[in-house]
Amino acid sequence: MNQAADDTTAARVQSLRAQLQAASYAYYVLDAPDLPDEVYDRLYRELQDLEAAHPELITPDSPTQRVGEKPAAQFTSVRHNIPLYSLENAFDLAEFRAWEDRWRRQAPEVGKVEYVAELKIDGNALALTYENGVLVRGVTRGDGVSGEDITPNVRTIRSIPLRLAIDNPPPVAEVRGEAFLPLDVFEQINAERAGRGEALFANPRNAAAGTLRQLDSRIVAARRLDFFAYTVYSSEFDLAQMPSAPDQITSQWQALEFLKTLGFRVNPNRQLCQSETDVQTYFNEWDTKRTRLQYLTDGVVVKLNDFALQQRLGFTQKFPRWAVALKYPAEEVPTVLETVSFQVGRTGAVTPVAELRPVPLAGTTVARATLHNADRLAELDIHQGDTIIVRKAGEIIPEVVRVLRELRPENAIKVTMPTHCPQCRSALVRPDDGAVTRCINSSCPAIVQGAIIHWARRDALDIEGLGEKWVKQLVEQGLVQSVADLYGLTVENLLPLDRMGQKSAQNLVNAIAASTARPWASVLYALGIRHVGTVNAKTLAQRFPTVEALAAASPDEIESVHTIGPEIAQAVAQWFAVPANQTLIDRLRQAGLQLAASPADQTQAAAGLLVGKTFVLTGTLPTLTRPEASAIIEAAGGKVTSSVSKATDYLVAGEKAGSKLAKAEGLGIAILSEADLLALVAVV
Ligand code: IVH
Repeated sequence: MNQAADDTTAARVQSLRAQLQAASYAYYVLDAPDLPDEVYDRLYRELQDLEAAHPELITPDSPTQRVGEKPAAQFTSVRHNIPLYSLENAFDLAEFRAWEDRWRRQAPEVGKVEYVAELKIDGNALALTYENGVLVRGVTRGDGVSGEDITPNVRTIRSIPLRLAIDNPPPVAEVRGEAFLPLDVFEQINAERAGRGEALFANPRNAAAGTLRQLDSRIVAARRLDFFAYTVYSSEFDLAQMPSAPDQITSQWQALEFLKTLGFRVNPNRQLCQSETDVQTYFNEWDTKRTRLQYLTDGVVVKLNDFALQQRLGFTQKFPRWAVALKYPAEEVPTVLETVSFQVGRTGAVTPVAELRPVPLAGTTVARATLHNADRLAELDIHQGDTIIVRKAGEIIPEVVRVLRELRPENAIKVTMPTHCPQCRSALVRPDDGAVTRCINSSCPAIVQGAIIHWARRDALDIEGLGEKWVKQLVEQGLVQSVADLYGLTVENLLPLDRMGQKSAQNLVNAIAASTARPWASVLYALGIRHVGTVNAKTLAQRFPTVEALAAASPDEIESVHTIGPEIAQAVAQWFAVPANQTLIDRLRQAGLQLAASPADQTQAAAGLLVGKTFVLTGTLPTLTRPEASAIIEAAGGKVTSSVSKATDYLVAGEKAGSKLAKAEGLGIAILSEADLLALVAVV
């Protein structure tokens, strides 16, 4: 039966939604369930059935719409109305005081102030837009200026209301906060991945980021992401104008309370501090207490409570002046060194890696830690079976900090750097001036494997399906000794590989063939020249539109490109001077790879990119003169004007930027450095 819904049905649907929304709020936000699971399920199914019979009644804020949609092809990039700034860090009390001194110099007459201390959640910032109270968009932080629109994924997060819990919502409101994965979910995801032989997520933040960027929101829905809100802006970006807000929201503390009213989960572990001592006490107290939380925190965010003062202080190019992140030192734990393995990377660099008795550290189980290089190894004087201290700082992989010599077993064997490559047995070299020990045999299987894996990366030639397991076999079986060999592979060549079927072999051959269409900049990056990452590759490919032009360029010519320094220029010139690399380029040319920018790339680079965008320049830029910067913007189709207004898209600011910067910040206009500008126009 699918008749138009009558009034009673519509009313029932509405009432079911209200009940379910209230129950979800109690469960996910307040952590105080008020409805038995069976009742919730029964109401939910009733709503589902009614919506199935009357699809015209489905609204985006219905609780049934949290389950995820079919996979998106890709995410679109969205410009933030107000950039998402990051926070300045203070690693100790002295740095905190220095921050205080700085803001006080800018507001000398201000006496006693209140601070809000909030836990700094180690997750991923999200910006959520509500139109007329309904969630319409969820965007990642991205680079702070633009992020990715991940709305279908955001909808699956139960503690994010699909509709604001107030009667007269403003036309537009934006709520910001941190999405994170609870530790138990993180452990569970990694256990599943381990079971499937997949690479593990290094920490909950990476796992949350990976989850948020899942193209299939049904997978996201299954992962129980959570969210704490910490900022709200309304239509005019002025909270006081929000119709349902209390008459005056003039402080961060009130804003947090108001976020609760809106239906968000706000971290209860916050404190209104009256003095620096209060802040310090809160910080110390949570250093111990945070280990008992179900999520990771890496510090305390301290914000000036008073919005008027916040507004007066404003922002630097990167940070608010009215807030600081007081960070906890990296965690350290003891464990036992089982053995040291020596890894050979794609550049031939040999890294000693400590294989440890697994130990929990900062939210993950750590079984390996880097020992960096030969010098560090010698300095630590590490022996098999030593008890050692490992540390994890931020996203850096764990490292060995020190050895507890007094616990060394008798007759323990000292660990030393090998003299020969653990993979190909050729003699290792270490230049007198360098810290890195290298294998310089270009056909060393470890180097070849690393080069191919890099070649196939998503941001390089994006060869789907060419993962570590195949690459290893291809190299071990002698089928591939250079990336150029990939282009001669046939289905017949691949079939003898372990677990390779006809269909996967054909897919792989097709994927390799498809990679010949990738643009010149991707090929340049894929070559794996030292210091040439994706950004430099784009810049170079734009300036040198053919491989011949780049190969013929002198280090000086290469260095004359903005943002390309002498080290990069040297590395590029040296690479093209090696005969084996010239042969590689010839073979790639024969295989049909793109070694020149296509005409489309060039026109896009020259024109399309900044069409419709208005720029204002201010201050002294580090390398470009004003006319040069204007020429770059105009060549890409952008317009340069002299004064900042609502119509300005970007302010490019250098040293001694004055009132224009302040005005742009006030209007929430994206502020770019010279480097940001150049990155923006480097598109080939
Ligand atoms: S306020 C304008 N409050 O930390 C500054 N940030 O390092 C806005 N974060 O990108 C940030 N917990 O992702 C703020 N209670 C909290 C936070 C928090 C975590 C993250 C946020 C931000 C990063 C800055």
